Amino acid sequence: MHMMGNSFGRLFRITTCGESYGGGFRKFPHIPENLRGGLITIVDGVPPGIKLTPEIIEEELNKRRPGLSRLSTPRKEKDKVYIFAGVMENDLTTGAPVGLIIPNSDIDDYHIEEHRRNKNYLRPGQAAYTYYKKYGQFADWAGAGRASGRETASRVAGGAVAKAVLDTMGIDVIAYVVESHGIKCGPVTYEMAKANYRKNEINCPDPEKAREMIEDLLKVKSEGDSCGGVIEVIVKGVPAGIGEPVFDKLDAIIAHGIMSIGAVKGIEFGDGFELARMKGSQANDTPYYDETTGRIRFRTNRAGGILGGISNGEEIRFRVAVKPTPTIFKEQETVDIEKLENITHKFTSRSDPSICTRIYPVCEAMTRICILDAVLMAKAYRAISYNIDPRWDLL
Ligand SMILES: Cc1cc2nc3c(=O)[nH]c(=O)nc-3n(C[C@H](O)[C@H](O)[C@H](O)COP(=O)(O)O)c2cc1C
Repeated sequence: MHMMGNSFGRLFRITTCGESYGGGFRKFPHIPENLRGGLITIVDGVPPGIKLTPEIIEEELNKRRPGLSRLSTPRKEKDKVYIFAGVMENDLTTGAPVGLIIPNSDIDDYHIEEHRRNKNYLRPGQAAYTYYKKYGQFADWAGAGRASGRETASRVAGGAVAKAVLDTMGIDVIAYVVESHGIKCGPVTYEMAKANYRKNEINCPDPEKAREMIEDLLKVKSEGDSCGGVIEVIVKGVPAGIGEPVFDKLDAIIAHGIMSIGAVKGIEFGDGFELARMKGSQANDTPYYDETTGRIRFRTNRAGGILGGISNGEEIRFRVAVKPTPTIFKEQETVDIEKLENITHKFTSRSDPSICTRIYPVCEAMTRICILDAVLMAKAYRAISYNIDPRWDLL
């Protein structure tokens, strides 16, 4: 960890900078438009020889991009990525840090002026008050600065690089919505999630429940309100034996990565909080020897694929609680921090009725970064633990 907390990962490490309206204040004619401001991701620890193109990264960015459907903010971001470093003419990484730039393209002055007009009013549910306490009068007040959903584009870009590497290892990460505003879908298998991935506006693998969720979201939106939900993530293909045993348990690293995403208020692995209500005889996943794969497997997967902080070879599965979008189009109580007056105010800036429709690619990205980092750590550990009998190899 690092004092400012703008880097994440050990062997595979991303460092990000950039904020919601970065570039909006320095629109000088001598600065080319796409270099005025935006997001930067530096990705270190990328193995050499990995194919990486802007299109590969934009495929992930497009999942997160706003303005795609009736359910998302009208903010229009093009999210074009420029690969600045670490890749040669054959589109293969060299092993040097990969530098990515995503310009901010939707930073018109009238949006900034709207934020300027409201800058003394604390937005309920947003990080304005805590940012003022930390950064004082210098805090970025334009569109939530680093606390904005915009910041997550740089993680998604870093996660796309992790995906390119994980694809070469047969490790797949998929995230989808399982609950929105209390409307739940039933259990989802990996195959079901793959077959129905992004087939509807809310990316819920159950088409019937998706319709119900969307109808409800449009109603919530028409009321000027917002709501939250639950994202589920499955990681397929992680060999047994990945993760550190104590402070850097695999689930602790994933929890760190996921909890660092704005609007996330909880995470549970496997059966999670439900395990707290079971008996040991109900909760234990019993192991067996599987002749077809030659591996130890487990009859059930209530643990979510992790035991003692180390992967057990089953699917890694966890759920993420996402709170309602803080910005709502209703009169709310707040404080004018300049005049120190209690007021009511209605904010009018752009936002999504539910963050769920846009956060699942961010969950995928952070998961990929965590998993790849842990896999590289395990491979490095194998290199120094060469006395281990090959029958314990990572499989
Ligand atoms: C992809 C994404 C999009 C978001 N969009 C909005 C938004 O449009 N309006 C808003 O008020 N908050 C939005 N947020 C949530 C804020 O970033 C977050 O709630 C705020 O910074 C407070 O942090 P906390 O909720 O984690 O405590 C978004 C978050 C993510 C991850």
